[in-house]
Amino acid sequence: MSLLFSKTTLGSLTLQNRLVMAPMTRSRAPGNIPNALMVQYYEQRASAGLIITEGTSPSPNGLGYARIPGIFSAAQLAEWKKIADAVHAKGAKIFVQLMHCGRIGHPLNLPAGARLVAPSAVTAAGEMYTDAEGMKPHPAPQAMTEADIKATIEEFVQAAKNAIAAGCDGIELHGANGYLLEQFIRPNSNQRTDRYGGPIENRTRFVLEVAEALIKAIGKDKVGIRLSPFGVFNDMPAYEAMTADYSYLAEQLNALGLVYIHIVDHSAMGAPPVPDSIKTMFRSVFKGTLILSGGYDAARAESDLAVGKCDLVAVGRPFLANPDLIARWQSGAEVNAPDFNTFYTPGPKGYTDYPALN
Ligand SMILES: Cc1cc2nc3c(=O)[nH]c(=O)nc-3n(C[C@H](O)[C@H](O)[C@H](O)COP(=O)(O)O)c2cc1C
Repeated sequence: MSLLFSKTTLGSLTLQNRLVMAPMTRSRAPGNIPNALMVQYYEQRASAGLIITEGTSPSPNGLGYARIPGIFSAAQLAEWKKIADAVHAKGAKIFVQLMHCGRIGHPLNLPAGARLVAPSAVTAAGEMYTDAEGMKPHPAPQAMTEADIKATIEEFVQAAKNAIAAGCDGIELHGANGYLLEQFIRPNSNQRTDRYGGPIENRTRFVLEVAEALIKAIGKDKVGIRLSPFGVFNDMPAYEAMTADYSYLAEQLNALGLVYIHIVDHSAMGAPPVPDSIKTMFRSVFKGTLILSGGYDAARAESDLAVGKCDLVAVGRPFLANPDLIARWQSGAEVNAPDFNTFYTPGPKGYTDYPALN
């Protein structure tokens, strides 16, 4: 009897199976507004238990990448509603990943009046793609004032309320992969000397305040978080106190009672390994649902569920390339390989045209 393909619960929700579609930025939202093509893409993949959407900005300031969607305007909300309806009609649940890019962005990708903000004015190494001028070095971000921090928390709250108003089942805070929340957690990007910087109690203050405000706004069963301990993406070097820092964060998130924690592991994509011990730590400290991700196939997903390493397994690239991944994994059929060249290009090619079995 397969655990992977059997029903389970997530907070007050029933999931049709334990396979989660991992959040994947696809840059198919010109003008930062979702559209019919995105409705079709998510609907095609709605045999998952849970779909976590691509990184979606809670505010104009958070739109670091070209053509990523937001969830702060009425026009965006109306389209998210269509996505939620289409996904629900096929039986999946849907959480919107709230991604504020912080210093990972470029003014050429931002709407008029928006600003590149971060905990400190520390420029990220590396480059950002822009539609207007191609690759550009990351510019220096502006250090957020206390007023900026307050306003940003309010933006997250409104975005979460919008997701629920659009009919989505919850939100995932993107606390991973070098974006704003992780920029606060990590000492290289957070060099503040106020109560949001310095010791880990201070560096986690922003993420915990956001999480708490969201719980208050939409309920703890509707708020999850993604974290990438030992992740180095977007200029986030490893450092001595990583395990201790994330153990503290795990305890605090457990106390808040979020519905899930979702751990990133990009070692299958060439990133440094994420020690098993940190996943075990999250498993023992956090009493809610634990989602693991990174390089899973059906056999490994089944065995990690069987030994109780996690409650749900999230899968990225296989879902990207196989709209009917569940049916394929269930029947042992061949899977389509992902086409890296069309991960972030506009239009249906490499997006909605991956063939299903029948
Ligand atoms: C095209 C692409 C876009 C991605 N965008 C996001 C994103 O918006 N938010 C996020 O948390 N992770 C993102 N990821 C990471 C995936 O969620 C996942 O962690 C990664 O693909 C590893 O899982 P896999 O081995 O099953 O593909 C992205 C990955 C890919 C391939």
